[in-house]
Amino acid sequence: MTTLALTDADATSRAGAHLAAHLHGGDAIALVGDLGAGKTTFVAGLVAALGGGAASSPTFSLVNEYPGGRLTVWHVDLYRIERAAELPELGLDDVFGDPRGIVIVEWADKHDVMPADHLRLELSHSATGRDLVATGTGPRGLALASALRAELLGSP
Ligand SMILES: Nc1ncnc2c1ncn2[C@@H]1O[C@H](COP(=O)(O)OP(=O)(O)OP(=O)(O)O)[C@@H](O)[C@H]1O
Ligand SMILES: [Mg+2]
Repeated sequence: MTTLALTDADATSRAGAHLAAHLHGGDAIALVGDLGAGKTTFVAGLVAALGGGAASSPTFSLVNEYPGGRLTVWHVDLYRIERAAELPELGLDDVFGDPRGIVIVEWADKHDVMPADHLRLELSHSATGRDLVATGTGPRGLALASALRAELLGSP
């Protein structure tokens, strides 16, 4: 397991931008990490790199949609979803696997919503900034995890 060091907020944002270059329609990304770990910062870098404009936290709207770039980004935040019964109103079934875009989910470990094949990104506070661990749970997830590691480490 490779831990990637993100020294400041800009590095978190750049990591999102690096990942954006490798995304295909239908990809799914789970973001896991404590309050303030940098999840939204990562999404903002990713959305901007795709040409979707400025992303903010969807904590109140639950799902933000950023069209207009190379791929639409559906940005989901499960932080305020207390009960699984509230999940259907998010309409996730309609966006997961949609070839026009990608889905990225903050607090993805709160509920079981991710498709079998996804990229899992775990962000945590470190002494100097944040640490990032990327793992895949299927062919696309694994490909994205290794592409992101290669970008951030500068080698395959
Ligand atoms: N690598 C980093 N080093 C230091 N600070 C960072 C780093 N990445 C992001 N931050 C800062 O951490 C703070 C929280 O970031 P952000 O809102 O992205 O976290 P979050 O995980 O989305 O939080 P929440 O759990 O509330 O949704 C911001 O001030 C951001 O600039
Ligand atoms: Mg957030």
